[in-house]
Amino acid sequence: MLKDKVAIITGASRGIGQAIALAFAKQGAKLVLSASKIENLRETEEQFKALSFSDYLLTQANVSTQDEVNSVVKKALDTHGKVDILVNNAGVTRDNLIALMTEAEWDEVLSINLKSVFLFTKACVKPMIRQRQGSIINISSVSGVSGNTGQANYAASKAGTIGFSKSAARELAKRNIRVNVVAPGFIKTQMTGKLPEQQLEEIKQHIPLGRIGEPSDIADVVVFLASDASRYMTGQVLVVDGGMII
Ligand SMILES: NC(=O)c1ccc[n+]([C@@H]2O[C@H](COP(=O)([O-])OP(=O)(O)OC[C@H]3O[C@@H](n4cnc5c(N)ncnc54)[C@H](OP(=O)(O)O)[C@@H]3O)[C@@H](O)[C@H]2O)c1
Repeated sequence: MLKDKVAIITGASRGIGQAIALAFAKQGAKLVLSASKIENLRETEEQFKALSFSDYLLTQANVSTQDEVNSVVKKALDTHGKVDILVNNAGVTRDNLIALMTEAEWDEVLSINLKSVFLFTKACVKPMIRQRQGSIINISSVSGVSGNTGQANYAASKAGTIGFSKSAARELAKRNIRVNVVAPGFIKTQMTGKLPEQQLEEIKQHIPLGRIGEPSDIADVVVFLASDASRYMTGQVLVVDGGMII
């Protein structure tokens, strides 16, 4: 489905980003992966070896720093001459109640989760306009749709991602660049991994499909949005949460 498509994936060192990288590799894409440190991408690289997949570049960037973001996109263009797909996946949580939340916790989350989406989109838009096509997929969260106690900063960043994506979808549609959002529910990764078993059981009670999500549940939907199978979709938010926020 993605044969010879050049895809940039941020936050590809573990969790959902790593699952997206593996799913794209299986579909024949050429990958440009980023994380805040190259060493963090070694585990993903090991998994590529198991698939005998070698068409990838490992890059390093703090996603909230414009020069570093531009250097990732430049490496993709220097190597492949184009960028077909951008997946803005990198993200963090710094949960706290609003009364206790520090300015630093607010700024860090907004900067890593939302400003990064603007910076990467801006850097990819010119080459995509030249190519007259592109697919951008931004990873939001059900927190950005429904809100969540203790996550005002995170929910604001993820709701902002949805607003940004809808605006970008309108602005770029005439250039044949599609922009869509995936809003995952509760997915088993390092981000959610610290919860005690009892709390996980309680969360499961609120998921109609009766299980916590796997990173591959999200990756398969991202493959769909990246591919021509979704060619008549733009500005959409696909909630992938086992029915949690029906
Ligand atoms: N897990 C869930 O239940 C869930 C639910 C809804 C939405 N999401 C969203 O899905 C995305 C992936 O989440 P995950 O659960 O896979 O998280 P994760 O396991 O914690 O992975 C986060 C990724 O983001 C990268 N990253 C963090 N800060 C960065 C920075 N400043 N610069 C560059 N890269 C940075 C990390 O790379 P390093 O190796 O550099 O740290 C890592 O690859 C996030 O946007 C998250 O908000 C997750």
